[in-house]
Amino acid sequence: MTKTFIYAHRGASKLAPENTMAAFELAREAYADGIETDVQLTKDNIPVLIHDENLRRTTNGTGFVQDYTYSELRLLDAGSWFSPKFSDSSIVTLEDFLCWFQPQPMVLNVELKTNVIAYKHIEKIVYECLKNYQVLDRTVISSFNADSIMKMKEINPSIQTAFLTSTKMRNLAGYAASIHADALHVKHRLLDKKLVKSCQKHRLDLRIYTVNRPTLMKKCFSLGCNGLFTDVPYEAVEYWKQWQK
Ligand code: G3P
Ligand code: MG
Repeated sequence: MTKTFIYAHRGASKLAPENTMAAFELAREAYADGIETDVQLTKDNIPVLIHDENLRRTTNGTGFVQDYTYSELRLLDAGSWFSPKFSDSSIVTLEDFLCWFQPQPMVLNVELKTNVIAYKHIEKIVYECLKNYQVLDRTVISSFNADSIMKMKEINPSIQTAFLTSTKMRNLAGYAASIHADALHVKHRLLDKKLVKSCQKHRLDLRIYTVNRPTLMKKCFSLGCNGLFTDVPYEAVEYWKQWQK
């Protein structure tokens, strides 16, 4: 039976503000197999964990991440938008996150947010950071931008990569293989038996986002997906335990 790894999507993002240390801690407490997080670059080229290019939705700041240095961004409140309980949450650097993550018995998915802004050298910067913390062997780097996948493979062909998409396309697995990705990360509505088969044919792992409903979790398990990304890892971990019985 293929194990479906449960990745906490932006941490346990249903219970705590996404991509904050509180959300990552809760993912660990839920015994998630892994964590998925999103990376953007600051003005001074510090990789930080935040989903949007713009600060508006998840902080009390305005404007773009790329227009501020990290010493400016770290002063922002990245938790009150979710609940006043989290008003002490701030934007985390990839480095601070890895310092916490390194001793955890978990795998990692770092998503490079290069589909809107083509951050210069983000691939190399993130690669060096992962290497410094010795987590490359349990990390997959994903992106909606095929150029980022290819750049990562140029830096180190053995690093695990994944092409991300929500778009149905003919021979998607063949396309991912052609850019030398090791996996496909797709939106749940693209998941069917045919996709599973074509991923097997191209020797690609297949992981699904964002899987919050039990019926969808079970579909991922029964089709033998390699992983799923969920905002509710504590629920997915329980469903997986029941599934195995
Ligand atoms: O990596 C899976 C998923 O996070 C991709 O979409 O928009 O949630 O980053 P998004
Ligand atoms: Mg993401």
